[in-house]
Amino acid sequence: MTTSTKRKRVLSGMRSTGKLHLGNYVGALDNWVRMQEEYECFFEIADWHALTTDYADTSRVKQNSIDVALDWLAAGLDPEKSVIFIQSHVPAHAELHLLFSMITPLGWLERVPTYKEQRENIKDKDLGTYGFLGYPVLQAADILVYKADVVPVGEDQVAHVELTREIARRFNGFYGGQVADPFFQPGMPVRQLEGLGRPVGKPVFPEPQSLLTIAPKLPGTDGRKMSKSYGNTIMLTDPEPVVRQKLKTMVTDPARVKRSDPGNPDVCPVGDLHKIFSSKETMAKVNEGCRTAGIGCIECKSWAADGLVQLLSPMQERRKKFEENPRLAWDILEAGTDRASKAASETMQDVRAAMGMSLEYEGTK
Ligand code: TRP
Ligand code: SF4
Repeated sequence: MTTSTKRKRVLSGMRSTGKLHLGNYVGALDNWVRMQEEYECFFEIADWHALTTDYADTSRVKQNSIDVALDWLAAGLDPEKSVIFIQSHVPAHAELHLLFSMITPLGWLERVPTYKEQRENIKDKDLGTYGFLGYPVLQAADILVYKADVVPVGEDQVAHVELTREIARRFNGFYGGQVADPFFQPGMPVRQLEGLGRPVGKPVFPEPQSLLTIAPKLPGTDGRKMSKSYGNTIMLTDPEPVVRQKLKTMVTDPARVKRSDPGNPDVCPVGDLHKIFSSKETMAKVNEGCRTAGIGCIECKSWAADGLVQLLSPMQERRKKFEENPRLAWDILEAGTDRASKAASETMQDVRAAMGMSLEYEGTK
């Protein structure tokens, strides 16, 4: 007998907010690229999630999604291995979101930490909307419509995956007993299935696990966490001269005022970059040279830039192919939509059957 080793299924996503920066790479993308080898992966560009905050102006949504797709492909997500698609192209997400919205208590949503934080911090947009409160419900639908087992996410998203598990549990609790039945014949009233050897209590949804991506601390050019909203990013698409220029203006250990002052790479943002992107040998030279004032910051920064350029240039090379022929990426997304839709509609059949709302004619009762 052959034991089929079915690969676990992964789903993850990013909001489509345009071109990606190094933080997106070390915090997620790099990890996804490696996961492709081991898991059956679905990666979605969450354009509906982007709308929860940016609903007022949709002029960039589509281009932002394409920009994300190009960065993903450039970074090494491989459409031969993974399903890459845009969320809004698979309407099943919306259908499942609607059904989940029926069973999700308001209190669960009001208690989500990201919700509370963003309501307090974002003042330039009106986030007092139904859609924004429902953000994690949509995310639960994203995950569960593929019955994903594993969800690689950063720290800030763990609470959303936890909520997803709670929604799955609640759904299974309400409807788990009524699954699509192997003995079902069209025309047979659902109620008569009781006692026919139907697997009672089989849950519709698995409870997905979050896989926390341990991301190293990645400072932006001003020393704060790299983030689009701080304007301190290094983009995956930045050409070499731009990378070098950004490094030149990057803040360093404030103790090194003069060239002759010794410094400490452990408290220097440039030191943090070295730790992630430079070789052991370079790191050793930095440690020694900085602490003894043997090297200057300008030299040290140029080494850090070397490390970054080494990482980015193969990506930018790969990106070229898609920039020269934009249709190529769109074709990949369309193929992804097909594969995602197929998986999602299988789940939706189970969901409808479980809720007693299948599309089959089942006679009158
Ligand atoms: N909310 C996630 C973020 O802000 C993006 C996202 C949307 C997602 N749907 C998802 C992540 C499903 C994991 C699984 O980064
Ligand atoms: Fe930072 Fe390098 Fe300057 Fe040391 S030498 S303070 S690690 S930039």
